[in-house]
Amino acid sequence: MSNPVFPFRLSKQVGGIPESSTLRINEEIAARRASGETICHMGFGESPFPVPARIARALADAAGSNSYPPTLGLPGLRDKALAYFSKRLSFTAGGMSAVVGPGSKDLIFAAQMAIEGDVLLPTPSWVSYAPQAKLAGTNAIKIPTQASDHHRISGKLIRETIVQARANGLNPKKIILNYPNNPTGLGISDEDLQDIAEVCRENGIIVISDEIYSLIAHGGPHRSIAGFYPEGTIVTTGLSKHLSLGGYRIGFAFIPDALGGLMPAMRAIASETWSCVSHPVQHAAIAAVEEHDDIEEHIVRCTKIHGMVTNYARDRLVATGIEYPPLTGGFYLYPDFTEHAADLAAAYGVSSSQELAADLLSRAAVATLPGTDFGDAEQVLSLRLAITDYDGAEALELLTSHPNIDQNQFVETACPRIVRAWDSLGEYFAAAPGNQ
Ligand SMILES: Cc1ncc(COP(=O)(O)O)c(C=O)c1O
Repeated sequence: MSNPVFPFRLSKQVGGIPESSTLRINEEIAARRASGETICHMGFGESPFPVPARIARALADAAGSNSYPPTLGLPGLRDKALAYFSKRLSFTAGGMSAVVGPGSKDLIFAAQMAIEGDVLLPTPSWVSYAPQAKLAGTNAIKIPTQASDHHRISGKLIRETIVQARANGLNPKKIILNYPNNPTGLGISDEDLQDIAEVCRENGIIVISDEIYSLIAHGGPHRSIAGFYPEGTIVTTGLSKHLSLGGYRIGFAFIPDALGGLMPAMRAIASETWSCVSHPVQHAAIAAVEEHDDIEEHIVRCTKIHGMVTNYARDRLVATGIEYPPLTGGFYLYPDFTEHAADLAAAYGVSSSQELAADLLSRAAVATLPGTDFGDAEQVLSLRLAITDYDGAEALELLTSHPNIDQNQFVETACPRIVRAWDSLGEYFAAAPGNQ
């Protein structure tokens, strides 16, 4: 007997939105590995280091905290997180207030939902911003950036997009910036930040500045756009990347008091959806933002490792004949193979980024994500490569015992899957005729 089918329709906002590609590929690769396949996983970026002992202890000590904490977060955590991140990201804590949420992803979604109007998205952009805009019933307006221009986001480009969007009847009111960037690993210069701030100020655009990778800035210091545009910038960040605590599900949004009605709206959304963040996890987070030397040293070591491993990958990429600018931070690369399109089509029959990603998985056993997931057109042969497939505990041990170890020696010793993956990628691209 077939199962009965109940007729219904998905809502307009949700219909057509697939599962997030990053989470999907993570589960797919886990299942394939469990069935015995050897795959290098560059599809999902997850910082691989163990939980620092102090944070694990704080979590365990708070296991008895089973009451609902305040909707916006424990006051001690909100204040300490604001003080901690404002100091490191170079913005002024005065005139800002913090919200604690179950990951910065939900906070970005809540901010998108709360602020009227359409969102400007420099593209390529992280996989979730555009689907979130749709869930919020708004339009995502792409600001296309170019690989040949190092994916630069300038004030001029934003101004032109705003003018065009308005002429098309759209209502741009917010922009999401993300730097160090996922997928590119690149940053935004202080000069461009200043120009972007000016354009946003002139046009009444609120910046949602996703600075989740700011404490893994291995290519130079990080500066928040909130330092240039304090009255109109919401900074979002968390503990998922620099402390490898993605599974704890906690993040922060810092909201300027100048955006008067926004905090009550965030409180309303939080109170009607997630209610509050797990009480014990908030205690663990307090330990993470109290400036303890052991935690700070851990972050410095993890950042150094991310820098060595990602720069190793960049060097190997450049050796395949693809140019790539110096990295700013995080653990991603976003190469564009379009100039080798004819060779790749002739050698492997691939003509879109999805086909390229699928072919790499079957021929080279390397999982990547296609550029289409980040907003690129199909014929742009871009791939997002996450460089985190190694044992973080072993890597930390090696760096602790050999603090001055050379980058290549480090990666060859601590990250064998990454070396193997680049050997396979090198062979794959070398086998495309004309691509030497
Ligand atoms: C660019 C970007 N923003 C936000 C997030 C979400 O991080 P969180 O774990 O704080 O929700 C991620 C992580 O996947 C990310 O890559």
